[in-house]
Amino acid sequence: MRGSSGSIFNPASPHTEAISHLFVISLWVCAIIFAIVAGLVGYSIVRYRWHEGDRDPAQVAGNKMVEIIWTVTPLLIVLVLFGLTVHAMQRSDPPATGDPDFVIVGHQWWWEIRAAKDGFVTANELHLPVGRAISIELDTADVLHEFWVPQLTRKMTTVPGARNHLWLQADRPGTYEGVCSEFCGTQHAWMRFQVIAESPEAYQAWVRRQQQAAATPTGPAARGRALFAEMTCVNCHSTDQKNFAINAGPNLAHLASRRMIGSAIVSNTPANLRRWLADPQQVKPGVKMPDFKLTNEQTNALVAYFETLK
Ligand code: CUA
Repeated sequence: MRGSSGSIFNPASPHTEAISHLFVISLWVCAIIFAIVAGLVGYSIVRYRWHEGDRDPAQVAGNKMVEIIWTVTPLLIVLVLFGLTVHAMQRSDPPATGDPDFVIVGHQWWWEIRAAKDGFVTANELHLPVGRAISIELDTADVLHEFWVPQLTRKMTTVPGARNHLWLQADRPGTYEGVCSEFCGTQHAWMRFQVIAESPEAYQAWVRRQQQAAATPTGPAARGRALFAEMTCVNCHSTDQKNFAINAGPNLAHLASRRMIGSAIVSNTPANLRRWLADPQQVKPGVKMPDFKLTNEQTNALVAYFETLK
């Protein structure tokens, strides 16, 4: 992760706070044990080293008191850590209740975000209202992936044929980086996403915008829209925010409103869109989008169209 902002040591939700606390406590317990053991070994080496003329020390075996101490002490430490772990598990993974707010589907190599309750589908950028726990169901379109926002959630695998669940909550506004943390093929490392936590009003505004139909442009952008429909783009991408069926590639109804493209790997600028259209494999080797060998004129028209999809 970049810098400390995306670090597990900078938790921003009750779930990751529980995990982070447990980690720090375990680290201290291990550090103290290490210091005691290493200290005693060091002391013994110096204090009882062999000197010329030393006789063998008295041979003792089976000191009951010592054996009780070194059996009971580790047992108590393990029991305490077990208790703390169960507590952290309960805090970081509350049981699912009701229908999920979002179903997130892992694809090679991007994230589909389905908001069945609110009636829209988007990709790679999820917004959250600060301080509220949002229920997420995880699914996959192909192989095992793993959904992870280090500052907000524990890791959770997406499993073909099974549904997993987690809660997403952010206690501070901000942009949180998400990753896929289960190896899933060529572009596993670039299967990123962003979680943007904002005020409840801003979140509602985001939901309302996602629910709106895509813009119908005029001018050069209209030419782009026609190209989009004539070429094979529409086989994989829909610009209908309610179309849950066409999902081989991300839904583009509000592409221009997203901060990043290519599954959160480059910022969403006209220059980057042009690079992507000109040769997707150059930007993201292995990506399932082919190189369409577009002419300059076609590329410009498509970029103009995508820029209208606010
Ligand atoms: Cu998806 Cu790794």
